[in-house]
Amino acid sequence: MRKDSKLSVSVTGIELRHPVMNASGILGDSVEGVRRLIGSGVSAVVTKTLTLEPREGYLPPILVPLEYGLLNAVGLANPGIDYVETLVREAHSSGLPIVVSIGGRDPDEFHVLAVKAFESGADALELNLSCPHTPGYGVDTASTLSTLKAVADSVKSVTTKPVWAKLGYNRSILDEAGALLEKGIDALVLINTIPGMAIDVYAKKPILTNRYGGLSGPAIHPVAVYTVYTVYREYRAHIVGAGGALDWVSALELILAGARAVQVGTGFYVKGLRIIEEILDGIREYMDKTGAKSLEELIGSAVD
Ligand SMILES: Cc1cc2nc3c(=O)[nH]c(=O)nc-3n(C[C@H](O)[C@H](O)[C@H](O)COP(=O)(O)O)c2cc1C
Repeated sequence: MRKDSKLSVSVTGIELRHPVMNASGILGDSVEGVRRLIGSGVSAVVTKTLTLEPREGYLPPILVPLEYGLLNAVGLANPGIDYVETLVREAHSSGLPIVVSIGGRDPDEFHVLAVKAFESGADALELNLSCPHTPGYGVDTASTLSTLKAVADSVKSVTTKPVWAKLGYNRSILDEAGALLEKGIDALVLINTIPGMAIDVYAKKPILTNRYGGLSGPAIHPVAVYTVYTVYREYRAHIVGAGGALDWVSALELILAGARAVQVGTGFYVKGLRIIEEILDGIREYMDKTGAKSLEELIGSAVD
């Protein structure tokens, strides 16, 4: 494994050899997928959001490639929380930390999922409080500040390990972030996809089986940078940025806005597994050119 002391960074006490990992929903739902992620050079593996029971998700079409991003309504298809041990074992066999994304329908479900994930060796949890297209989960679980706080309480009560919470952009983002941090959430993952729809003009119908889905990729990148910047400026919290990181510039923008690490989702669809090394090479070259000695000094440096 390549050592890269200039790029190393600690996120909520987890030492990462560099700041780039996959986003939840990209390859982290099978042994083969985790192996491919490891091969891509990510510094940590993030699992697909796991629910109490396995889920089939929606029928195809579940993905619409757009010129400026991707629209998906997968419907949280996943192998269920009982599979977590297998995913953890695979990541740990290569010495990589694994962040387990969990999705419950209420605070009690989150509690059960968290216990199971940590018993199975998860290094951190990522609470999916923001999937926009699966009724009963994601944004539905987190519809009020009091439910957000209740989820945070129920998960934090089972562990001293890091708990990250993933939010999407909305007008209450500062209140939501503040409520979660007040409850001891260790890092915020910003942002999930935002709702979107594409219509087949000849069929005169939405293309996705679910009609609407989550928009990702370059289209949401400025929204992600804005959200990371705004939350970092207010709270100086640990943030993991996601949204349209498709090259080193877009990844670095998230870091300069306040993210300690960056997750790549749509970038894997557009560029394949080589995207991780491409981003890292670009950041290394930028640091050499600008004389930056450590990643740490870049984090949030665009924030006044
Ligand atoms: C096909 C697909 C599946 C996804 N599944 C999940 C998921 O299970 N849990 C989650 O929190 N986010 C999920 N996401 C959202 C991504 O993790 C990420 O937050 C979002 O796509 C923005 O990053 P990107 O522009 O790099 O794709 C998914 C995204 C895509 C494109």
